Amino acid sequence: MNAPSRARVAAITGGAGGIGEACVARLRTEGWKVAVLDRNMDLARKVAEKHDATAFEIDIGDAASIEAAAAAVEHRMGRVSGLAAVAAHLENPHAPEDQDFGEWDDIVRVNLTGTFRTMVAFGKGMIEQGAGAIVTVGSITAFNSSPLQGYGPTKAAILNMSRNFAVAWGRKGVRVNCVCPGPTRTPAVEASYARGERDPETMTRQTALGRLVQPAQVASAIAYLLSDDAAAITGIELPVDAGVLATQLWGMYGGVPSPD
Ligand SMILES: NC(=O)c1ccc[n+]([C@@H]2O[C@H](COP(=O)([O-])OP(=O)(O)OC[C@H]3O[C@@H](n4cnc5c(N)ncnc54)[C@H](O)[C@@H]3O)[C@@H](O)[C@H]2O)c1
Repeated sequence: MNAPSRARVAAITGGAGGIGEACVARLRTEGWKVAVLDRNMDLARKVAEKHDATAFEIDIGDAASIEAAAAAVEHRMGRVSGLAAVAAHLENPHAPEDQDFGEWDDIVRVNLTGTFRTMVAFGKGMIEQGAGAIVTVGSITAFNSSPLQGYGPTKAAILNMSRNFAVAWGRKGVRVNCVCPGPTRTPAVEASYARGERDPETMTRQTALGRLVQPAQVASAIAYLLSDDAAAITGIELPVDAGVLATQLWGMYGGVPSPD
């Protein structure tokens, strides 16, 4: 059984980012004490101040930093019973032959190794208390082909490792699930639209709902999976994608129907 919600501490890596901040806001309204963990401390402090949370520095690309952050959160806030592993190294579309292998190494170190280490570092305390919930953040690129050559495979690996942890830790009282956002209008993605690297109109056409995802909509799925309402749910992947995955074959038949 999970600890009573009034005593709960949630840790959110990437808590200073678009989806991360939405998680901070949502979990605070649900009464969690929230640790905002990010390598961007200026932003993390602002987010923490805005939502009455506590900021901690972490670089999930660095094993020692993860261990130090997990210890600091426990020391200052108490045992963590909810983890949202949101931090990731994002990537722009390109051809495989144009892959920058310096960036490849960063993506693998942060998204794959870093997410794994984060789950272990924060999960250890959950195992000791026999209760906890972890939500990793994948992506719809994990399910299908995309031009995100390094990022997509690391997100597919996050799905796989989340299922592995779910089974390894299920009988120790820890649930592990993965939320897979589709195109979400975070400040980073909006900036990418502004630079012309992505086109919101093209992305919207690929959705069933005819609109892109809002960060708060991803946060509500994460908050649900962290909550006792999801007490029987572990080892799942939950797309929050406005129906992008569902539209896959419609392009062959003229695309998604317009409302009229
Ligand atoms: N926005 C989307 O459309 C979208 C779609 C699918 C999946 N996602 C996933 O959602 C999550 C959040 O994305 P976002 O759009 O909010 O991005 P974002 O860039 O706004 O947030 C990412 C945060 O992670 C932090 N971060 C990056 N590397 C870090 C590291 N090594 N250590 C600690 N913190 C680090 C950044 O400082 C930033 O605050 C990511 O896992 C991303 O892959 C986003």
